[in-house]
Amino acid sequence: MAKQTHRIGILGSGNIFGRYVTGLARYPELEIVRVGDIDVARAKQAAAEHAIPAWGDDSELYADDSVDIVINLTPPVHHARTVITALEAGKHVYVEKPLATTVTDGEAVLAAAARTGRVLGSAPDTFLGSAAQTARKAIDSGSIGTPIGATAFIGHSKAETWHPNPAFLFQPGGGPVMDMGPYYVAILVNCLGPVSTISAAGRIGVPQRTVTAPGRTVETIDVTIPTHTGAVVTFASGVIATTQMSFDVWDSDLPYIEIYGSEGTLSLANPNHFDGDVRVRRHGDGEWTVLEPALELFGAVGTREQARRGLGVRDLANAVEGGPHRANAAFAFHVLETLCSLEGSAQQSRSVTLTSSCERPQALFTA
Ligand SMILES: NC(=O)c1ccc[n+]([C@@H]2O[C@H](COP(=O)([O-])OP(=O)(O)OC[C@H]3O[C@@H](n4cnc5c(N)ncnc54)[C@H](O)[C@@H]3O)[C@@H](O)[C@H]2O)c1
Repeated sequence: MAKQTHRIGILGSGNIFGRYVTGLARYPELEIVRVGDIDVARAKQAAAEHAIPAWGDDSELYADDSVDIVINLTPPVHHARTVITALEAGKHVYVEKPLATTVTDGEAVLAAAARTGRVLGSAPDTFLGSAAQTARKAIDSGSIGTPIGATAFIGHSKAETWHPNPAFLFQPGGGPVMDMGPYYVAILVNCLGPVSTISAAGRIGVPQRTVTAPGRTVETIDVTIPTHTGAVVTFASGVIATTQMSFDVWDSDLPYIEIYGSEGTLSLANPNHFDGDVRVRRHGDGEWTVLEPALELFGAVGTREQARRGLGVRDLANAVEGGPHRANAAFAFHVLETLCSLEGSAQQSRSVTLTSSCERPQALFTA
């Protein structure tokens, strides 16, 4: 049976835009019909480059009745307002991470989705990839026994070396916590369930950074948010994770994520990628074992396939068609509250207890 066609409008045609267009080409039933940007010249150029039939400013996109789903690729500080506008225009919305930049804005976004009855989904979607699902399968099948602790380390994204205007990554809504944190926290919550409390510390490593990216539109950036944080994150299950989220660590041998159970250790792949080796070492094993991927791979690790986006949009389309919704708004809100609580705890030098919870999304593999 032919899949239902969904007509997509993409809001924001900056750095990540091309990776959505190439990734969505995997799903011919997800048809990109318009691109909108407050920088209309940029939308026009993006439409011409990718043969998208209609382009214009943001309001033309909201007003286009032929658009069913809006993919929101604006910078984080614009997410809440633009998501609410799109929902109120009758669109289903998939928004890049983070869902919003404050808990209050996140709540307003959830309320708008409930009020309008539209489906809202959010990045990250890498927890739907083969590597994260392989890790989840290992935990659910008891291969490391009962999870007790975890570590998660975000090293440097080096954004000033590749993004032409990375200022938003060093201002509120960015930083290692809000920019890279969503990938790590989404995978931890998918594996271990919701977070309950956080105790963190943070600091600005270097107050002004030099941009070296080719084609840069700014030379320096004033840093206004913590770029180096350490935290103890306690899950409702009792698991205690230690995290370091930093844009000040240029080189390191630390792993991405490890989960320690009563019977062994699980070592996870890069949470920013869909595929990668997931390794287990049970008590007494002489060496690590690479687990069989729980799902088909997108492509070899390190190839362009790994950077393409669209899986979360396909997940949202499933929900629009009445199927399960995994990268859903309640999950994204809990991830957001976790990250805001981490930053809040660091700012206020006190432990923060979360108010939200969420279900672990339905697994994609068959047990
Ligand atoms: N760049 C990456 O590698 C990357 C990777 C993963 C996720 N993301 C996420 O994708 C989003 C966009 O990041 P980017 O790097 O492409 O940013 P960018 O600054 O390169 O592009 C953002 C675009 O949005 C437009 N815009 C701003 N406000 C708007 C509004 N109100 N309405 C319509 N258009 C508006 C800007 O004119 C610009 O063209 C962010 O949420 C970011 O966290 C980026």
